[in-house]
Order: sequence, then structure tokens, then C-alpha cells
Amino acid sequence: MKIEEIFQTYKECIMPTYNKVPLIFVKGKGSRLWDINGKLYLDFFPGWGVGSLGHCHPKVMQGVRDQISKLIFVPNNYYHPFQAKLACELIRLSFPGKVFFANSGAEANEAAIKLARKFGASTKLSANGEHGRTIGALTGLSTSQGRYEIITFQNAFHGRTLAALAATGQKKYQDGFEPVPDGFKQVKFNDLAAVKQAITDKTVAIMLELVQGEGGINVASRDFVLFLRKICDEKKLLLIIDEVQTGIGRTGKMFCYQNYGIIPDLMTLAKALGGGLPIGVLIAKKELGDILTPGTHASTFGGGPVICRAALGVFKAMQKEKILSNCQKMGSYLLEKLTLLKSAYPVIKEIRGLGLMFGVELNIPGKQIVQAAYTRGLLINCTQDKVLRLMPALNVTKKEIDQAVGILEEALRQ
Ligand SMILES: Cc1ncc(COP(=O)(O)O)c(C=O)c1O
Repeated sequence: MKIEEIFQTYKECIMPTYNKVPLIFVKGKGSRLWDINGKLYLDFFPGWGVGSLGHCHPKVMQGVRDQISKLIFVPNNYYHPFQAKLACELIRLSFPGKVFFANSGAEANEAAIKLARKFGASTKLSANGEHGRTIGALTGLSTSQGRYEIITFQNAFHGRTLAALAATGQKKYQDGFEPVPDGFKQVKFNDLAAVKQAITDKTVAIMLELVQGEGGINVASRDFVLFLRKICDEKKLLLIIDEVQTGIGRTGKMFCYQNYGIIPDLMTLAKALGGGLPIGVLIAKKELGDILTPGTHASTFGGGPVICRAALGVFKAMQKEKILSNCQKMGSYLLEKLTLLKSAYPVIKEIRGLGLMFGVELNIPGKQIVQAAYTRGLLINCTQDKVLRLMPALNVTKKEIDQAVGILEEALRQ
């Protein structure tokens, strides 16, 4: 297909659900991408957080190639050794529990929401205000009588399916899709008092991203997270951490919650876990691992053998290539460079982030900077209108950072 034909086909045959950049990519390796004209780009926002190992990592490709030559798909009513192996690896690296496999971040969050509701259907506040555990089947308690409300946060993003959209809470994403499912309450991020006030006898869980990605790279404070863990323990609420964007090393630890010294009750993963292939995972701590029973939840493609091999390749590469350590080092280096930029360009208001997940908040709309950057060969993102988002591959080098910051400086100067 010729370039114009491709653009035209998109116009005619593909729903216009994305604001698109007029670039056609055909090849990638590490932090580099080549477009259809052979022009090289430095990718500092690989796959919206998918490309933590950059494009086409050999360990991922090796696992995928090997699996494709043997067996591509096994439905979930049978067993497969690599699904078992990936579950073991996820549990080994996180906390004792059980895994549910899906295909995307939104689906992983849907599974978490369903598990929380099922948990809430069998636990309710006793008359004296304390939490007791009653089995729904025995007491005749239905979900609507039990606890079902989930507290989420302003500027959160949990996905585009309806319940995930309700959890997301941002009006701009919900407009036109009402009624969104009931049972979600948004409060201000990092605000202890707001959370306390929002908890009722219907509350069953608190759900958050520890670094809000789409929301503008807002980092949860340590005090806030410790408070959430404590209040969840006291009131028997589930602490659901959405690590779809922060997980798999992005913030310098394998999972972002490990920066805070807490353990969630439920954690969701997606994006970088598949090394470029679609996956979504819910991990529930041990006591919650058997709440979703046969027939209560499912996913046809979830955790298929090819994707499990890809994810195992991701973990193998992370260990062999000391990716977490590189992320920490390169994170500090990039922060240093961005801080220098900030002192030279008053248009930069603030730099926020953790590991290699950075937001550069501007005083002006970021769209023009993103555009100026990509015409010079650097791919970055802008969220919340004014926040440039930089999330390079975790195996990024100093040289690549220097090059990217150089282009960003030119774009800012322009
Ligand atoms: C924190 C978070 N949760 C959930 C999602 C939804 O993931 P997906 O697009 O794979 O459904 C995203 C996507 O950007 C995300 O950043």
C-alpha cells in the first residue's frame, strides 16, 4: 500500500477513536523506530508504557517464535505449562496470592472490581459499626445489600470499559456513555481527610494508581499510601493498586507499591508485562484468591501460551540485563538533565516522576512541543494538555537521553 492509500484507508475503514500523528512505523529495535520512509525516531514513549524493554527485545521474540512453532492457543479449560510458569513468576516477584489472566489493563481492572464486589457481597458492617464476615448465601445478602462502593481518585485512569470508566471518574471520558455503572466515588488524590469522609458502610475497596499516568504524572505521597493501607486494614476494605502503567520496573522497582513498603490486596498489570503483546493480569493476595470461582469470571484469550512466553521473556531480560538498576540510574540522569532544562526555560513549571516515568508540566499547551519534537525525530506524549510525558525504555542509555533532551531543548527553544 502506498502512503496516501494507508491514510485514506484509515479514514474510510477504521473508527476515528484516536487522535493520530501522521507517522507510519514499520520497524523497531530498542529505543529506535523507523517510519515507512526510513526516517529514524528516538522513542521516549514506547507504546504508551508497553515498551519497557524497547521494541522487539530478543528475549521476547525468542519465546514467541519458539511457542508459535509449537502451539499458539490453548483454551482456559485446559492446562498449559507456560501459564503455570508465568503465574509462579508473578507471585514470586510480588506477593503470595493467585493470578487471573486477561488481555488488557481495563479487563484486569474489571476483574479486580468484580472480585471486590463479590468480596463485598459476603462482608458487611455489623450493627455496632464493626465489620463482620457474613456469607451472602447464608444471610441472604445480595450484592446490592452488601458492600460494593469503590473509592477512586480525581484524575485517575483505569481504562475504557464501562466499569473501568466509572472507576476513572473523569467526566471527559464518560460524556455520552451514561449511565455508567453505579458504585464509584471519586475523591481528591493525596487527600487523607477526603478519603476518611468518603468511607461508608457500603465501601468495599479503595482503588488507585500510585503514580497517576494519564492524570499528569501525579505521585502518591508516602504518608497517603501508608494511611490508605492502614485504613483498609482497619475497615476491612480492599486496597486495589492499578499498576497497569507503573508495573514491571517503570518506577525503579518491579512494582511501584514496593517503593512504599506496603502490599496491596489486589494488583492489576498489563502494558509492559507482555513486551509488546496484549496481556492483563489481576493478582489477589492469598486469602482472596478463591473468590472468583468457576463460572463467575473468564476470558477466552487470557494468558494464552504465546503471550505467556513473551511475558516470561520480559522477566528473563529484566533479570539478566539488570534493567531495574539501569532504570534507577537513568532515571536520576534524566531528572538531572530535565532539571537543567527547567532552569533554562521558564516555560517549564514543574518536573514530577519516579524511576523513568516523568511528567514535565509546562505553562503552555504541550501539543506544539510534542509536534516540534517528532519533526526532529523524538517521540514523546502530552497528557492533561500541559504535561509532557517521558517514559523511555528502561534499558535506555545515557547517549539516548542526551540526544532526546537535546531535541526537547530545540523544541522548547522553537
Ligand atoms: C493506569 C492504567 N490503568 C488502566 C489502563 C487501561 O489499559 P488498557 O488500555 O490496556 O485497557 C491504562 C491505560 O493507559 C492505564 O494507564
